[in-house]
Amino acid sequence: MERLQKFISACGVASRRKAEELILSGKVKVNGVVVRELGTKVNGEDIVVINGQVLKDEIKEYYLLYKPRGVISSSSDEKGRETVVDLIKTEKRVYPVGRLDYDTTGIILLTNDGELSNILTHPSRDVPKEYMAKVKGFFRKEDALKLSDGVLLNGVKTKKALFKLKRYDKKTDSSYVKVVITEGRNHQVKDMFNLLNYDVVKLKRERYAFLDLSGLKSGEYRKLSTKEVKQLYSLK
Ligand code: URA
Repeated sequence: MERLQKFISACGVASRRKAEELILSGKVKVNGVVVRELGTKVNGEDIVVINGQVLKDEIKEYYLLYKPRGVISSSSDEKGRETVVDLIKTEKRVYPVGRLDYDTTGIILLTNDGELSNILTHPSRDVPKEYMAKVKGFFRKEDALKLSDGVLLNGVKTKKALFKLKRYDKKTDSSYVKVVITEGRNHQVKDMFNLLNYDVVKLKRERYAFLDLSGLKSGEYRKLSTKEVKQLYSLK
């Protein structure tokens, strides 16, 4: 037995908070009866319907993919390009947790667990994401400090981050910069570099919370262990 709002969010249709709103506003039926109490418990045999749609409590799957370049991080693409979902062999309807740009490589999680996805992508969650960026030119210390401290992107200051020069390659006039951010705004890393006039030539996400790409080559994936899933839940 589990609480109705938890069941709804685990089915991936709404966050826990949104699920509570749906219940309170009388949009949820259990076995044909409108239920407005948040404490209501349901099990796998109860039929839960929201706006005419029957919810299914599917078996949850969790994958860690090493995303190659040239793949879209969504479930479908209107231009028919390959998506991260196409790379995972499963019958379940998994989808990516957050996004990486088309030309960004590295770690991305996929799951059909809406509750975990909501937890990890919630702005207040501060999940650390580590990148290696190759940028054109020499990355100056004062710029590292500015970006680490926070800059205005679309009028909103970025949270504290880490931007650190790891290596400068004189031959190609490029810098390799380690970046750790806890937000997940669209194109955030590129936009932050661009703001200080650095072009990002390559971007790879090497770490997501405590998970990295060990043992995987580009395009390969593995299932997360039960322990890893529990650890991700505990980031709450
Ligand atoms: N920041 C970006 O600019 N692009 C990504 O793909 C991820 C973070």
